[in-house]
Amino acid sequence: MNRHPGGEAHTRRLIELAELPAGASIVDLGAGAGETVALLRGLGLEAEGVDLAPRSPLVKQGDFLRTSYPDGCFDAAVSQCAFFVSGDQPGAMREAYRLLRPGGKLLLSDLFFEDPAALFRAAGFEILCAEDMTDAWRDYYLEALWRGDAPCCEIPRGKSSYWLLIGRKE
Ligand SMILES: C[S@@+](CC[C@H](N)C(=O)[O-])C[C@H]1O[C@@H](n2cnc3c(N)ncnc32)[C@H](O)[C@@H]1O
Repeated sequence: MNRHPGGEAHTRRLIELAELPAGASIVDLGAGAGETVALLRGLGLEAEGVDLAPRSPLVKQGDFLRTSYPDGCFDAAVSQCAFFVSGDQPGAMREAYRLLRPGGKLLLSDLFFEDPAALFRAAGFEILCAEDMTDAWRDYYLEALWRGDAPCCEIPRGKSSYWLLIGRKE
């Protein structure tokens, strides 16, 4: 089961907006049950996934804050509703940046407690697309609570927003 607002439809939108070429290599950081890896493979991309607690054979066990991949080995990285869960969103963005080749893209949907664009730029990304999905997050979170399947960490009080962002490694 997808564990991000908007489910598969949102993932498809993120992929379409990124305009990745056929055969591009892509890693899903915080891939969970591997739905996005399967979807990307079905679209002809060379996809793999990493998660601290994989829930599918499509996903390798690993920490996306410090992966064992060499520098610049992917054309793209995707992460949905996972960087904020790690407690180190800036560190996760820096590691994603390291994994991308120059011109590579990060496809991100995540909860933010500060300015997402500033965080993205601080990690070195040029922003290609930014959409505020905060209302979708509110719906998802309430639905998750009603199902008894709340997102996996405590949401800090104060201002938070949920964004779809696509950035390019400069
Ligand atoms: C809310 S779930 C989202 C899973 C998947 N991206 C999806 O949309 O269905 C967050 C995932 O991030 C993973 N995660 C959190 N911190 C991580 C880290 N440092 N390294 C790898 N995975 C991590 C969790 O194990 C969990 O599977």
